[in-house]
Amino acid sequence: MRSDLKGWQPNESRNSLMNHISDDAFFTRARRHMLRYGGDFVPFVPVQAQGSFLYDRGGRRVLDFTSGQMSAILGHSHPEIVETVRDMVGKLDHLFSSMLSEPVVDLAEALANLVPSLPRVMLLSTGGEANEAAIRLAKVVTGKWEIVGFTQSWHGMTGGAAAATYKAGRRGAGPVMPGSFGIPAPNFYRPRFAGVSWQQELDDSFELLDRQCTGNLAAFIAEPVLSSGGVLDLPPGYLKALQAHCRARGMLLILDEAQTGIGRTGLMFAFERDGVVPDILTLSKTLGAGLPLSAVMTSDAIAARADAADFLFYTTHVNDPLPAAVGLKVLEIVARDGLAERAQSSGARLAAGLRGLMQRYPCIGDVRGRGLLLGLEFADQDGMDAAAISDAVTDTALDLGLSANIVRAGSSGGTMRIAPPLTVTNEEIDLGIDLLEKSIKNVILK
Ligand SMILES: Cc1ncc(COP(=O)(O)O)c(C=O)c1O
Repeated sequence: MRSDLKGWQPNESRNSLMNHISDDAFFTRARRHMLRYGGDFVPFVPVQAQGSFLYDRGGRRVLDFTSGQMSAILGHSHPEIVETVRDMVGKLDHLFSSMLSEPVVDLAEALANLVPSLPRVMLLSTGGEANEAAIRLAKVVTGKWEIVGFTQSWHGMTGGAAAATYKAGRRGAGPVMPGSFGIPAPNFYRPRFAGVSWQQELDDSFELLDRQCTGNLAAFIAEPVLSSGGVLDLPPGYLKALQAHCRARGMLLILDEAQTGIGRTGLMFAFERDGVVPDILTLSKTLGAGLPLSAVMTSDAIAARADAADFLFYTTHVNDPLPAAVGLKVLEIVARDGLAERAQSSGARLAAGLRGLMQRYPCIGDVRGRGLLLGLEFADQDGMDAAAISDAVTDTALDLGLSANIVRAGSSGGTMRIAPPLTVTNEEIDLGIDLLEKSIKNVILK
């Protein structure tokens, strides 16, 4: 921790008038100049992020239970990442896109060692970009063009990735990619049909797809835990059944482990639980631990077919050395410090704390998720609807010093996503639960 941050207190005690005044000035300028791209901005302006905490100018300390945008698995400003960036930016930052460098091949090799059947790697910058490349790759190698995703999915904001994203953003921007289809992911807290198993629902969805497609199904793209869709954890056996449906139709299976990859769920990759390896794997968010780095991984066979078909995905920052060196360091730290295992034990502690809250407060309807990717779904209570409760709890939590966010999908009144850094300590987990409980009490007992 920075020495001048030591001893900074949570907001209640140090929330100075000066700070409010400078925040007002800041938001006046922000309102004037910032283009809105997704709802309101958070009324907290960090000047420093360190470990699991964010700090503002006045000394308010906020516990970051979203790991930034679900990415900072090592906490903020991890000293070894800081050192890697400092070193690389002064040594080897960015290159001509057809020029390879040691950190790039080292990272590709390290990733291939983790998933030996997907040894061909391309490094990009964002999750949307990686999925865009994966979808394009699937189209090129199958010669087909129909893409299927889950209706609660989020894969990114670029054309192909956005066309496979059903959670939000489909309206108002013109046609999506032709040949886009969605099927529902199972939701055990809010099942679509009572008494219907996930297998029946999946089989039925594929029957509908068979009727609607034009015989050009290229790929299915899936998150093993649908995070933006409300932290919907696909049950054991689901991915295997999904892959069987794909194989029966000559479709490729793309798994998007933007949020679940690199230890978050307690395993290096979430798909390992299911004994399934996708045809194409995309990694992003957690791979750069908060810095822009993503990867597309595939098999030798698919890479050979892509090569024969002149696959093109040439971008400015493809295989850049600086972010590659960061990714390599992230993998080294995650393995060395046993962070996937820590996600299991810390996740169990966090889940137990959240389940304790669920027992005490009827406004919590469900707690679900895997490892350190958890969701807490709010329910109606005492005439207050779940959406109002979830918003009020989130606002109060921020006031008290805890940052978490609400995702809404379908009829859900709001699911709080809780995904602290994998380096989170037991004390920080307990503090988070305590702040959440105080926020719930504050809202419910008002
Ligand atoms: C599962 C998943 N895939 C892809 C993306 C898109 O990543 P990016 O915003 O880096 O383009 C997101 C972003 O939230 C995501 O959650």
